[in-house]
Amino acid sequence: MSRILVTGGAGYIGSHTVVALLQAGYQVVSVDNYSNSTPDVYEGIAKICGCAPDFEEADCVNPTAMRHLFCKYGPFDAVIHFAAKKAVGESVEQPLHYYRNNLDSLLTLLELMQEFGANHLVFSSSCTVYGQAKELPVTEESPILPAASPYGNTKQICEEIICDTVAATSLKAISLRYFNPIGAHSSAWIGELPRGVPQNLVPFITQTAIGLRTKLQVFGDDYNTPDGSCIRDYIYVVDLAQAHVAAVARLLSGKEKETYEVFNVGTGKGRSVLELIRAFEHITGKPLPYIIVGRRTGDIEQIWANPSKANRELHWKANTPIEAILSSAWAWEQRINESTSSVPQYTR
Ligand code: UD1
Repeated sequence: MSRILVTGGAGYIGSHTVVALLQAGYQVVSVDNYSNSTPDVYEGIAKICGCAPDFEEADCVNPTAMRHLFCKYGPFDAVIHFAAKKAVGESVEQPLHYYRNNLDSLLTLLELMQEFGANHLVFSSSCTVYGQAKELPVTEESPILPAASPYGNTKQICEEIICDTVAATSLKAISLRYFNPIGAHSSAWIGELPRGVPQNLVPFITQTAIGLRTKLQVFGDDYNTPDGSCIRDYIYVVDLAQAHVAAVARLLSGKEKETYEVFNVGTGKGRSVLELIRAFEHITGKPLPYIIVGRRTGDIEQIWANPSKANRELHWKANTPIEAILSSAWAWEQRINESTSSVPQYTR
């Protein structure tokens, strides 16, 4: 049974991927520093899978702690690296924090993978590497334009580091360029749980709908889009998790066509912020309070994926309808706000 190390395995995409890996029969070791998650997540995973992964609290930028982890749980057949800071706006305000954290964690991991002979990496990249593409949808051949935020730049640099490392060592790697992951597991045992005020759109929408926030701010309605708000490709987090299982299987079975491959992981459909709000209102049957405010620094206007390469090569497709995705996010928000909810209780 192959053993997979998942960094950031208690996080939003990480936890859904741990579930998908366990259900696919992999042994999973999760490492997380809980900077934007809690260990309660493993109880949710156990509810879904009937077992939890091995897990450790450690910071991926800490070589001593990470070496200990490799000694204790290795050898690893593959590593999936999620652990990173990920908020566009915050990265504009705290660029050094983003560069230190996102680059150091990858460097530490790659050095240890080399030292311990772990030769397969799946990296959590982002469509943000394309910057504001001139032609849409973006393919993997679309130019990598200057990043619109330090967060985006860390993803570009990380991809370059991986590419150079693959060229010089026995490492084989796949970068998955995610579009905008949203939603929660259909069981509502795991979902997105940002600490403090959510930076991302859907948790802010659900927290507003449940009354934790008075109103949603829509960042700009003067973009060059049909309704003036930004357009993104919103992908169900469970579909995204399956893309990781497909990427690991591709590496472990030696089916990769190049030693470093990149894939767009999106649906192929762009939706505006206002369209998403309308779809959510349709699900809850009540209006969502929102106001239009100025543009958010670091945001790009519009992007959506051409996912054909992932569809073809990974035999993977995102096919969950947007209504089901938003319903899952709403079910999750409602469950974590139930005062009588049975375990696990999540700490906000
Ligand atoms: C970015 C990345 C995405 C990454 C994510 C991680 C790009 C194009 N995408 O997503 O790949 O997974 O960061 O965090 O860089 N919005 C509001 N009000 C809010 C919050 C958001 O109007 O309170 C708007 C934003 O302006 C944006 C859209 O909603 O147009 C989505 O924002 P968000 O959920 O923060 O994700 P991105 O920044 O697009």
